[in-house]
Amino acid sequence: MVPEEGYFDRVAEQWDRMRAQFFSEAVRERALAVAGVRPGRVAADIGAGTGFMAEGLLRRGLRVIAVEPSTAMRAQMARKFAGAEGLELREGTAESLPLPDASVDYAFANMCLHHVEDPLRAIREMARILRPGGVLVVTDLDEHRFEFLRTEHHDRWLGFRREEVARWFRGAGLVDVRVECAGEDCCARASAGDAHARVSIFVASGRKPGPGTGGCDAV
Ligand SMILES: C[S@@+](CC[C@H](N)C(=O)[O-])C[C@H]1O[C@@H](n2cnc3c(N)ncnc32)[C@H](O)[C@@H]1O
Repeated sequence: MVPEEGYFDRVAEQWDRMRAQFFSEAVRERALAVAGVRPGRVAADIGAGTGFMAEGLLRRGLRVIAVEPSTAMRAQMARKFAGAEGLELREGTAESLPLPDASVDYAFANMCLHHVEDPLRAIREMARILRPGGVLVVTDLDEHRFEFLRTEHHDRWLGFRREEVARWFRGAGLVDVRVECAGEDCCARASAGDAHARVSIFVASGRKPGPGTGGCDAV
């Protein structure tokens, strides 16, 4: 059980509305474009929440394994996608994924990394489950100083430095690593006072060495 599980259990029913205030579908579109997803392939959505990434992947004809530790978030996702084909929900954390080695073509983690205890371990785990040629795409916050995101939204990390994320990707054995601007900001207002966060979002991508499965358009 992760410490924030209680928080996400509490907000699960409002998460879709909260998410829409924090960031838009443009982040998802950018992540999918960077991964170069192809129909018929298998993707893991890590820290899937109520299935924001999973939804975009299913629409593009991929099979999705959604991994999420919060029982209430998974229940919400199960309700939203009842009857949808190609989606499997699994309980688990990014640091210890309930998936075998080399079992997916893509792994996505949108706004999950700043909630995990050990980001490098999570990135290594996500790289582990990729097939040779598979692509990992992490979308998350650039480093910031908005403490209220920690106290009110249970963020463990106040964003990340892009160079560090790139180092973690390379340390996990990924190649063609790029960390660039997602072209979108995450916005949040503190519950008390007038603090208002606007934090840029990065999209980090890397490919597991081996024959391609769909390609990362990294140089
Ligand atoms: C900010 S929400 C993002 C949810 C979803 N990816 C989205 O874009 O709407 C973060 C999610 O990460 C999950 N989470 C927290 N700790 C985690 C961990 N250690 N491993 C995987 N997921 C985790 C939370 O339960 C929550 O659903």
